Amino acid sequence: MDPVKVGVLGLGTVGGGTVNVLQRNAEEIARRAGRGIVVTHAAARDLNKPRICSTDGITLTTDPKEVVEDPDVAIVVELIGGDTLALDLVMRAIENGKHVVTANKALIAKHGNEIFAAAQAKGVIVAFEAAVAGGIPIIKAIREGLAGNQIEWLAGIINGTGNFILTEMRDKGRDFDDVLKEAQALGYAEADPEFDVEGIDAAHKLTILASIAFGIPLQFDAAFTEGITKITREDVTYAEELGYRIKHLGVSRRTDKGVELRVHPTLIPERRLIANVDGVMNAVLVQGDAVGPTLYYGAGAGDEPTASAVVADVVDVVRVLTSDPENRVPHLAFQPDSLSDLPILKMEDVETAYYLRMQVKDEPGVLADVTRILGDKGISIEAIIQKEPEGDATQASVIMLTHKVVEKQMDEAIKQIESLKTITGEVTRIRMENLDAS
Ligand code: NDP
Ligand code: HSE
Repeated sequence: MDPVKVGVLGLGTVGGGTVNVLQRNAEEIARRAGRGIVVTHAAARDLNKPRICSTDGITLTTDPKEVVEDPDVAIVVELIGGDTLALDLVMRAIENGKHVVTANKALIAKHGNEIFAAAQAKGVIVAFEAAVAGGIPIIKAIREGLAGNQIEWLAGIINGTGNFILTEMRDKGRDFDDVLKEAQALGYAEADPEFDVEGIDAAHKLTILASIAFGIPLQFDAAFTEGITKITREDVTYAEELGYRIKHLGVSRRTDKGVELRVHPTLIPERRLIANVDGVMNAVLVQGDAVGPTLYYGAGAGDEPTASAVVADVVDVVRVLTSDPENRVPHLAFQPDSLSDLPILKMEDVETAYYLRMQVKDEPGVLADVTRILGDKGISIEAIIQKEPEGDATQASVIMLTHKVVEKQMDEAIKQIESLKTITGEVTRIRMENLDAS
């Protein structure tokens, strides 16, 4: 049988890694797929740029449309990124009856519903394993491996750049901007690194995970997103004193009222495995009703870890090229006509525990005022520590851990605390998750 011809759009970090893996492991990949797989076409902006892969034998172009229009190309691998040109190219590839593999989480989270509908109508596959958690086969695990379960919740460190920054800052005391530059040089960061540090990239990925876990349409706009830029050295230290680590977590939970969909810095008990996932590594913890908790761990970014997921998708597509489109694994795990209309909860309705830090005047009665406000809002305190002012300073830091409360109650309590004359500046609030199996 002739080899399957692949057109790769983008020859950067992931595109270059994908060509390398497909070329280096060609023989073994053919034994798995049942057919050879060759990259015959590729597109990039600047054909004179040095590449991490060999482009020998590949027809190169600066116009990616040429690749999606080429009748020889059976599978289009979209690795350009963004959601404008990439959307046009993917839709056109589908119209042309080509299967698509992409690592583009922004594209899937924002336009996946229309892309999958078009692919379904045309009987082609759009595969996106690499879009979430780099090399970890988390889409396949949830969509297929856990298909017998009702997923109750999932929580993940799903941005490699952010986790790399937090780890380097904590372990080596390095400066935020300095570590971010290194993450960019290593090819981990998004074209706009704000996506990484402000949680947008993680929200794209969480949107995808929630859809395949709970059988709901992709709803990126409903995700709550808070980044890591405001995390201070002292919060990291106080959290550790209390037995917690701060991680940038994506959390999605099915509740009676709807689905939680939120990305924010989170205190996690340090004894949890996921609290010890460091550097560019990602991990996703999934709680199923039958299996209990399962944890998936691996590199969340980088050329070959991501290529591992892209190539696995290409192999999957080749394996089912001749199968009946009606009997394939659905794009979003559930049959398209069986998606649920469970709403996404507003953040103000989400219930979590909190870490609070505030600067207080070192005077009698200050703590009583704060605890009264919390008590009036039904917020009970689990732990409290006070750091006495150093030297001539008159301000003490008070750190509190609370039990679970609805976010709206906490918003109101914080507003009242900040209005006290004895409190200086803003109250720092970091949400907490126990992540136990109960
Ligand atoms: P890069 O910036 O390294 O690569 C993008 C590639 O697209 C470059 O080769 C660039 O060409 C090419 N390109 C951009 N615009 C055009 C255009 N108009 N016409 C033709 N080619 C174009 O990005 P990454 O490889 O890092 O990311 C690609 C995708 O993979 C993104 O969706 C990203 O979110 C996703 N992803 C990235 C991961 C990572 O670790 N980097 C991990 C998981 C997913 P040129 O090189 O000539 O500039
Ligand atoms: N910028 C992303 C990250 C790439 O750092 O996780 C992988 O999706």
